Amino acid sequence: MPRVIELEDAQTATLAETVEAIAGSGFDPHDDASLSHAALWLRRLGNDRDFLGDILIRELAQRHRDDVLDNAYGPQVVMLAPPCGQFFIRANLWPSPDEHMVRASGGPSFAYGLPHDHNFSFLTLGYFGPGYWSDYYEFDYAEVAGFRGESVPSLRFVERARLEPGKLMLYRAHVDVHAQLPADALSVSLNVMHTSGAQGWLDQYRFDLERREIGAIISPGPSEVFLKLAVGLGSDEALDLAHRFARRHPSDRLRLAAWDALAGREEAPEARDALWREAEGAGSLLVAKEAQGRRAELAGA
Ligand SMILES: [Fe+2]
Repeated sequence: MPRVIELEDAQTATLAETVEAIAGSGFDPHDDASLSHAALWLRRLGNDRDFLGDILIRELAQRHRDDVLDNAYGPQVVMLAPPCGQFFIRANLWPSPDEHMVRASGGPSFAYGLPHDHNFSFLTLGYFGPGYWSDYYEFDYAEVAGFRGESVPSLRFVERARLEPGKLMLYRAHVDVHAQLPADALSVSLNVMHTSGAQGWLDQYRFDLERREIGAIISPGPSEVFLKLAVGLGSDEALDLAHRFARRHPSDRLRLAAWDALAGREEAPEARDALWREAEGAGSLLVAKEAQGRRAELAGA
């Protein structure tokens, strides 16, 4: 269960003041003083009941003038302060099941019904509306290799709770898991997101709660796509890099992507099977288990 932060403050801060204050001392969620400082400023920002509406109206009025590529706004996330050192600030919109966008796009488009952990810590504040519901779980990240279907015996249910207005919480990276349920009415949360250089190499998972298994890694980075494209294009350098990454890259996820890229070059099932057999013994549990799956698929094809 994310850590509920009991912190009251009557002051109001603008978005600019909030960014300046957090940027001035940084945001380290593992440091209690830093965490309390960021939480205090998020509370103060949340006390400003007008700023988000003002931003949305301004954007609606001006948006036709924006360069599309500069626009960081999606249907669910409003980027309030872009990445700045160790953090960024965003607002998240949580539609209710009655809303057209949920009926048209389905709950999973809004992360509803997709149990997941996070590969980053973040502060969240219920800002508007009744708040989304979550079934909260915890698990032990260190026990997991990350292959699909891997049993997660440490996954345990904690409680169902709602991010009520004014509730302030810290979601802990690689600890807290939640399956979100739609808000009863349109709701908004404000987040201070922690960012770090290592984050991209630490995996975020989707879970199968009924089977208590890893469903998939849901935090692929651009490196996997670049590697697959480069290998597909077929230069000697790309192939050499893929062979080295497949055996020695510190990220098991990228090792697997390298094996996948190399396997994608092989047309004959026998050659693919030989490659995956080699992958099985290449020193990564995640790769070995995924390789077994690939070989079983080949055998059944
Ligand atoms: Fe989440």
